[in-house]
Amino acid sequence: MSDVNEKNHGTLTGDNHAALWSGRFTEGPDAAAVEFETSIRVDERMALDDIHGSIAHAQMLGEQKIISKSESSEIVKGLKSIEKDLISGELKIDYSAEDIHSFVEAVLTDRIGEPGKKLHTGRSRNDQIALDERLYLRRMIPCIQNEILTLIKTLSEIASKNKKSLLTGYTHMQHAQPGTLAQHLLAWASMLVRDWERLEDSLKRIEKSPLGSGALQGSTLPLDRELVAKKLGFSGVTENSLDTVSDRDYCIEFTSDFALLQSHLSRMCEEVVLWSTTEFSFVELSEKWSTGSSIMPQKKNPDFAELIRGRTGKVYGDLINLLTMVKGLPLAYDRDLQEDKEPLFDAFDTVEANLKVFTAMVSSAKWNLEKMASSCEGGFANATDLAEYLVRKGLPFRTAHGVSAKAVRMAIDAGLSKIEDLCLEEFKKCSPLIEDDVYEILSPESCVENRKTIGAPSSESTSVQIKALLAFCKKSLKK
Ligand code: ARG
Repeated sequence: MSDVNEKNHGTLTGDNHAALWSGRFTEGPDAAAVEFETSIRVDERMALDDIHGSIAHAQMLGEQKIISKSESSEIVKGLKSIEKDLISGELKIDYSAEDIHSFVEAVLTDRIGEPGKKLHTGRSRNDQIALDERLYLRRMIPCIQNEILTLIKTLSEIASKNKKSLLTGYTHMQHAQPGTLAQHLLAWASMLVRDWERLEDSLKRIEKSPLGSGALQGSTLPLDRELVAKKLGFSGVTENSLDTVSDRDYCIEFTSDFALLQSHLSRMCEEVVLWSTTEFSFVELSEKWSTGSSIMPQKKNPDFAELIRGRTGKVYGDLINLLTMVKGLPLAYDRDLQEDKEPLFDAFDTVEANLKVFTAMVSSAKWNLEKMASSCEGGFANATDLAEYLVRKGLPFRTAHGVSAKAVRMAIDAGLSKIEDLCLEEFKKCSPLIEDDVYEILSPESCVENRKTIGAPSSESTSVQIKALLAFCKKSLKK
């Protein structure tokens, strides 16, 4: 289900409701105090989740005879009408409410009268917020997971067209060994698979319903926590009420997943920026996903890759924000915990937008295959291949390494840019084991094709990787 907040920004409607806790007070709060403590502009995006949690709670209250059956069904009917009107945009969020819980309860009581006042029986906003966050994450994390899959699929499809498109591999930003564009893009895809799996793993830890933990010590009322959990599709209930209302591990865990995902996107973007330079020119971004300069007429800049890279700090900051928020907090609930939502949602929104933009950017990019292939020329990236050739002829690797290094030295001294420019006689001076057949293993194409180990860049090995990635995307897609 979509978020309601897009349609519901703006107009304040409804009464200016008193805070849920106003009874003990003789004076209303200072307007500046209300402004300071309100969270509705942040937590409004959980409106539907709040309603779904309340429906299950009200049904349980009825089934346990804590409230009457008819009160329970009136509450449920009222909540459903609020849900409907929020989705249609007919009901606007009232930003004078303290938080989304107060808003929903106030609208409910406006609509159905007395029974509405029974909704909060056996419940506190402390366990309610822990529930809303879980429901929201359970509903929305799959959207991020699906975006990750779309990107993995996009990269795999580009890779499958470029299994033989040569691209040198670098270590220390120096030519290292020949490879392919496919192998490189599949490396990106492999990082993303782990990002998807981490989210999947984190989802397992929000599989328990917190409701019924109350403010901190459960309830004297005969609440059936398991029934609520079952109605909401949880696999069970949380174990300890104090822990439940204090725990924000899940916010930290998802934000940490986002931070790692963001680090991957940032590394990919760095390569896109580098590859877009005149010096590299491995890739040309489409005009749709580039920007110009207000002064330099010739410019076509990779701003989108830079913005994704630049927003990494936001997501890392969100994680540090959350970790610092919980550090040293005594049990149980402290209002500090209200501050969890801004960083969590910011990290969520940032990675979601970044994934979409990165996918659009790479799928519309043009790969300069000739320029990439020429990167395999020079730099002596086939020196390891010469060493392994000698290993196959029986030389110990360390000795073979020395022979190949000697050939490289010889080529450099002779002003040659490739080992294969040495004649056989020169090769023989390095090792008598080298024969005429050495030339065919030294071409970049052979260097790539001869690397047939699992996960290596030969077209055979990359085909296996692509097949596995596409199968992963197919089986992992969520509705
Ligand atoms: N809005 C709060 C939060 O997000 C929940 C309300 C609990 N407030 C309280 N004073 N106990 O954490």
